[in-house]
Amino acid sequence: MAVLVTGGAGYIGAHVVRLLRERGDEVLIVDDLVTGIADRNPGVPLIEMDLAHTSSVEELAQLLTSRGVTAVIHFAARKQVGESVAKPAWYYSENVGGLANVLQAMERAGVAHLIFSSSAAVYGDARGLVAESAAKAPTSPYGETKLVGEWMINTAVGAQHLDAVSLRYFNVAGAGWPELGDKMALNLVPMVFERLDLHESPRIFGDDYDTPDGTCIRDYVHVMDLAEAHIAALDSLSTQIPASGRHRVLNVGTGSGTSVREMIDVILRVSGAPQTAEVVARRPGDPAMVTAQVSAIAEQLGWTASRSIEDIVESAWAAHQRR
Ligand SMILES: NC(=O)c1ccc[n+]([C@@H]2O[C@H](COP(=O)([O-])OP(=O)(O)OC[C@H]3O[C@@H](n4cnc5c(N)ncnc54)[C@H](O)[C@@H]3O)[C@@H](O)[C@H]2O)c1
Repeated sequence: MAVLVTGGAGYIGAHVVRLLRERGDEVLIVDDLVTGIADRNPGVPLIEMDLAHTSSVEELAQLLTSRGVTAVIHFAARKQVGESVAKPAWYYSENVGGLANVLQAMERAGVAHLIFSSSAAVYGDARGLVAESAAKAPTSPYGETKLVGEWMINTAVGAQHLDAVSLRYFNVAGAGWPELGDKMALNLVPMVFERLDLHESPRIFGDDYDTPDGTCIRDYVHVMDLAEAHIAALDSLSTQIPASGRHRVLNVGTGSGTSVREMIDVILRVSGAPQTAEVVARRPGDPAMVTAQVSAIAEQLGWTASRSIEDIVESAWAAHQRR
């Protein structure tokens, strides 16, 4: 089967592309290379296209038809929360508009299988163990675009006879292969690496939260576990024609949390850096603890995360060293 991976030149998409190739699937990447890197997966056909542009509907539909694509995995999106606050309309046109164009192209080409990259950002300030049914209250335009994306798929599945899975990722880190590491310092692990490179102390934003060591707790999932969740999602899509109009929305995390201090300790040990963590003031809006309830994905896809925090940090550090 041929799978089209939008955003396949990016950090997470490139891992999924590689896993698909390794098991012999035909893969095609569509990416505008704004944050993607063209040679993350040499030899995989890459079509440069801005999916937010309306002309992409026709171009993409032709591509889906001519290459016999049966499933789309849609990663392509802008993902910087701060940037989304500064440019909300642009984020909507990129992320919501991009998905609308992909759905229209799929309709024209009769492609019925979709996997969508959603995010724990749809829950906004949710705290504790977060189930899929928790209140959706995004606190940034970025999170809003992911929630609107899910809504759009909710209604499109019936009208277009799609079988779709949206995966709400929690904190993604690590690398499956050193050359596929995350190049952007938007999350804790790469942000700490950046501080170490500058010979500065990693910062802890507040150590007076109501958690065992006083620092915030998050659910970190290894990018390889996440990539395998996409493969499980893809394989779970029904081959029934017309597709059933089903849209499953599932958290992807480990179900357990790691505190900022624990994570920094592992990073300092793995990197051998001489620095120690420095505690600074809390950042506004950081909930004390957020972890994913993951029973639904285990039941529905038979997937659970298997890699440890050490695996995440060691693989991310190896990727960082390669740079
Ligand atoms: N990294 C995380 O922690 C995380 C967490 C939750 C959700 N997500 C979502 O996962 C997806 C992948 O994230 P990532 O970390 O790999 O980011 P990334 O920036 O590395 O990858 C996104 C890719 O999409 C491409 N792209 C973006 N807009 C496009 C457009 N209009 N047309 C064509 N290509 C476009 C970029 O060039 C890039 O290659 C995104 O949808 C993101 O919102 C990521």
